[in-house]
Amino acid sequence: MGDKKKIGILISGRGSNMLALIEATERGELEAEVAVVISNVEGAPGLEKARAHGVEALVISHKGLSREEHERLIVAELKRRQVELVCLAGYMRLLSPYFLSEFPGRVLNIHPSLLPAFPGLEAQRQALEYGVKFSGCTVHFVDEKMDHGPIILQAVVPVYDDDTVETLSARILAEEHRLYVRAVAIVLSGNYRIEGRRVLIGRSREAGHPA
Ligand code: GRF
Repeated sequence: MGDKKKIGILISGRGSNMLALIEATERGELEAEVAVVISNVEGAPGLEKARAHGVEALVISHKGLSREEHERLIVAELKRRQVELVCLAGYMRLLSPYFLSEFPGRVLNIHPSLLPAFPGLEAQRQALEYGVKFSGCTVHFVDEKMDHGPIILQAVVPVYDDDTVETLSARILAEEHRLYVRAVAIVLSGNYRIEGRRVLIGRSREAGHPA
């Protein structure tokens, strides 16, 4: 128990991806413990979902604070619990270089589109309105730009003629929950290398291409 790697999850709302990660740790699919969930929004539904699984869940509101003041409070709580990996799960704020320097290469995000298409808000609506035939979701390392860092995994879903934002979002969300667990497992295993923007999985060692 004590030697399991510790994950911290930042949320702002519903928390279904957060829950998928917590449940994966419970099933033993992720060899890790969710040490704390932090929401910047009071009353975020994800808070109660975390607590129902015995996971500590805190509110640290950004109201009245500068970005860095707010982040310092969050970083202190994460460090206090020896968090090694930070997962953004519907966390609706950009992170500053300060936060990222405290967890270099250790912050992940999930986004409901095939990046670099449709970054930002309402990605599923953007995809529908653009008329793409496929969309999906992306788990990536976080950098200072929105929905931008090196891509770890993506999953593709079809877009149907009779889709609404709701039906497409639901199809993508089901994939998000699987994808985030897989991506976290890869990052925790350390079995990857980053070359430029490319995340090469299963090539942590110097050896060449696996047979
Ligand atoms: C998800 O679609 C995620 O990709 C995006 O925000 C949404 C959060 O949903 N970043 P939930 O809070 O995980 O249910």
